[in-house]
Amino acid sequence: MNFESIIESLRYADNKLVMIDQTKLPAKLEYVSTDDYRVVVDSIKRLVIRGAPGIGIAGAYAVALVVIESLTLTSEKRQEFISHALREISSARPTAVNLSWAVERLRAVIESHPGEITLELAEKLKTEADSILREDKDMCRRIGEFGADLAPANPAILTHCNTGALATGGIGTALGVIYTLQVRGKSPKVYAGETRPLLQGSRLTVWELARAGVDVTLLVDGAAGALISSGMVNMVIVGADRIARNGDTANKIGTYPLAVVCKEHDISFYVAAPSTTFDDSIESGEEMPIEERSAEEVVQVMGASLAPPETKVFSPAFDITPGELITAFITDQGVHKRP
Ligand code: MRU
Repeated sequence: MNFESIIESLRYADNKLVMIDQTKLPAKLEYVSTDDYRVVVDSIKRLVIRGAPGIGIAGAYAVALVVIESLTLTSEKRQEFISHALREISSARPTAVNLSWAVERLRAVIESHPGEITLELAEKLKTEADSILREDKDMCRRIGEFGADLAPANPAILTHCNTGALATGGIGTALGVIYTLQVRGKSPKVYAGETRPLLQGSRLTVWELARAGVDVTLLVDGAAGALISSGMVNMVIVGADRIARNGDTANKIGTYPLAVVCKEHDISFYVAAPSTTFDDSIESGEEMPIEERSAEEVVQVMGASLAPPETKVFSPAFDITPGELITAFITDQGVHKRP
């Protein structure tokens, strides 16, 4: 394989944001193409586009679309429309800091042009969103290189959720490390956890890695402890949605128990994340908002009933892994014991 053959999850073309509809994979590779920021907000909420860097990039383009649409309004109505729409985008999903970070970066461009909402400003916003996408691509590549440097000779890696091209603007974070090992000819053996709520691991990670010729095995989520204790993996690498100053990390539900089992069995547990996922404004995981998903999402999966319709469900999208359980953070700026 080579890096160029890895799929692109989103791009901006002909004044539209084009995203792979990840709810349809692996059965169908379909795209959503829109110039309506409301469709982007809905796509973020429904996990059509997902992954912390992925929703940050989509959110940035959504801000450009808002400003283009505001030009159809009278000048008195523009500011209010923009403020309301930016709030909607920022709050579409609360846990990944990348989304609000990207919206604030674009807001700063708007505020640097007070009183002038013009087509030129919309163009500047699009260029800023392009920069966020390009920077994310570069950060993924650097994470991949740093992570591949520290992998053992015969890497057997457990990963969780989907942290690949589908979750970012580039080759991914934890999956970026795996792709880089594959390109270096290290033939990593990968176990991908199924992942709730929407089976992001089995539907997306297995699809992505198999497409790239990586040796991937789908891991029943409940079997992760058994796999780690059996000595069949020599490292665990996951992504992150938000990392506090003390290293506490929010990531896909099921990450925390993996870290606990790794500690018990002395297996390295790495978090791979770009600089945009580190939240300097909070000290610890206690300050992180954790999204709860709907009951329907797990009671009914793709039309099939998996539990009685009225079942009470507890479905947080993320959990928090204490910083002390994390061996190191693989970032675009190097490998760090603490943020
Ligand atoms: O709910 P999701 O699918 O958006 O959750 C994604 C994750 O938890 C990823 O591990 C994280 O966003 C990092 S993606 C590079």
